[in-house]
Amino acid sequence: MSTTIQDTERYRTIERLDWSARDGLVDDERFLVENYLDPSSVTLEAGTGNGRIVFALKDLGFTSLHGFDLMPEFVEAARVRDTDGGIVFDREDATSLSYPDSTFEQLIYLAQIISTVGSWENQLKLLNQAFRVARPGALLLVSFLSWDTRLSRPVHLLYTGYLKAHRTMFGSRVPLQSQPWLKLGEWANLGALVDSPPYLHYFKLHEISELIRLSGWNLIEIGSTCQISRRQPMCPNIIELAGRPIRGAVFAVCSKP
Ligand SMILES: C[S@@+](CC[C@H](N)C(=O)[O-])C[C@H]1O[C@@H](n2cnc3c(N)ncnc32)[C@H](O)[C@@H]1O
Repeated sequence: MSTTIQDTERYRTIERLDWSARDGLVDDERFLVENYLDPSSVTLEAGTGNGRIVFALKDLGFTSLHGFDLMPEFVEAARVRDTDGGIVFDREDATSLSYPDSTFEQLIYLAQIISTVGSWENQLKLLNQAFRVARPGALLLVSFLSWDTRLSRPVHLLYTGYLKAHRTMFGSRVPLQSQPWLKLGEWANLGALVDSPPYLHYFKLHEISELIRLSGWNLIEIGSTCQISRRQPMCPNIIELAGRPIRGAVFAVCSKP
């Protein structure tokens, strides 16, 4: 299993309170859904939590919806909320799915689930599994926490410097791009001061491109919250995106050949 015990406990407790309080699509998600997804296609959402995204899609007229989450409590709560049973909720680990090959026509890996699964190996497994369960021609929406965004904020830059010194002092081999959560729900995470796991991974653009390539997906378009919020065109590749301002998360639209 990819997600650590600490992650699991975190999702079970504080993060559950935080995420289960959210409802409806945020602006980035609405843009991507409206521009790339087809309501009549068989759609899967990874790390669905309380089903926030799939319930919003149902309201938009999506007819075949599936959501999965690692946490059985979340899956159960989403099933209870789905009073007419129109959405299929499953307990699954994104890095080792039990769905048959070539099942889904659209896959939603938003809310940066790939940043939570740990090592490069697990990140690749997640995308490989998504590829396996996607039908040929399927579309994938996937978002990544961004290293460029992280370094653009003075407070995060300062913390990154602190973390570097802390890891050097204690001989830690955790890559600097993997960092503790700074907030737990609404509260500051004091564990971040002692570099306590679990970590979120902040991706460099070339890593995103490499993960997509290695897992077999074709990158169609890529952009960050900055382009989406200004309704500027997304970019055809990372080279073009690297020349634009990057803020918020990075969103990739991919297809299965
Ligand atoms: C940030 S929350 C997002 C929840 C929901 N998608 C939303 O946007 O409201 C991340 C979710 O991913 C789930 N998750 C984390 N690792 C997972 C894994 N390996 N497989 C499946 N779900 C996972 C967590 O349990 C949590 O519900």
